[in-house]
Amino acid sequence: MTTSKPIPATLIPGDGIGPEITTATLMALDALGAPFVWDRQVAGAASVSAVGDPLPPECVNSIRKTKLALKGPLETPIGGGYRSSNVRLREEFKLYANVRPALTLIPGGRYENIDLVLVRENNEGLYMGYEHFIPIDGDPHAVGMATGINTRQGCRHILKFAFDYAIRKGRKKVTVVHKANIMKALTGIFLETARQIFESDYKGQIEFEECIVDACAMKLVMNPWQFDVIVTTNLFGDILSDEIAGLVGGLGMAPGANIGDHAAIFEAVHGSAPDIAGQGIANPIALMLAAAMMLDHVGRFDLGNRLRRAIDATLNEDKVRTGDLGGSATTLEFASAVVERIKASR
Ligand code: NAI
Repeated sequence: MTTSKPIPATLIPGDGIGPEITTATLMALDALGAPFVWDRQVAGAASVSAVGDPLPPECVNSIRKTKLALKGPLETPIGGGYRSSNVRLREEFKLYANVRPALTLIPGGRYENIDLVLVRENNEGLYMGYEHFIPIDGDPHAVGMATGINTRQGCRHILKFAFDYAIRKGRKKVTVVHKANIMKALTGIFLETARQIFESDYKGQIEFEECIVDACAMKLVMNPWQFDVIVTTNLFGDILSDEIAGLVGGLGMAPGANIGDHAAIFEAVHGSAPDIAGQGIANPIALMLAAAMMLDHVGRFDLGNRLRRAIDATLNEDKVRTGDLGGSATTLEFASAVVERIKASR
């Protein structure tokens, strides 16, 4: 039994494996007695087929009211079609910080004891969608162009978030990842701002390091333990966070939180996995861990920790694992095993 008040929250099951991993996650949250009262909404491909709109106003209005959402992956057409509903949600609610922790959950893998957090700028950079084609000689796509934009205010916002987060969590070091040797304005402003605010606000409180993105990608594979908290611009963060997920067993293990000053949306790092959708074999851990971050966010660290401990015991003591982790459990079998562990932890 929990004593906290009910907390209204929006639930978007999403596309592909989204509904399967959402069901699994809700089983765990119900077993915990989590305080969320869900307002179920649709977005992405599911809502294109249902109501002809990848981000219906009802969904946006629901998050405007609850300021809190758990979201399954949303499909985005490649190379054309509608703009990503994920990106639109991040813009709509100014969710400027994307926090993606990666922790080794299963010992004995290629990398042991990984404990990294990637903080990604979520609203600017090359994700702003200022793109167009220039037609030449009858080829409508003869030239493709994109404009990236990073602002001083946006850089300051995310960098302060990352330094504050690292200090609050007792971390040792923040690594600022950039490509300021080539993109001297677009990512130069990010590095310049990082140096400035470190000097003025954080010096002496935490270690500061700079790393060029290509070198960072290599170092993450060679010796990931040298990093602690990484903060970077939008596209680099997108790519490096998938790489980091690979260090802890793949995308099925990586949760993410999109945080703004007035709202937060929690999700798995991975997408809708169309190749395995509908088969009931997806790994629900990433969304479950996102739900644990959501519990932390509302101050229910007790429940978040219980959920993380139940997942750990299911993986390592019961040895119940989905196919991506070398096991044979279905999504629902894994979820049922987590529920048993949660009940046993009362
Ligand atoms: P993806 O992350 O969906 O899949 C990549 C690979 O990882 C696939 O082989 C998939 O089977 C596997 N995988 C992903 N999650 C898994 C899980 N929980 N358990 C077991 N295996 C898992 O990436 P992909 O294929 O590039 O994207 C598919 C769609 O998802 C696209 O429409 C994309 O735009 C969208 N997407 C949405 C995101 C979001 O809603 N935040 C994030 C990334 C992609």
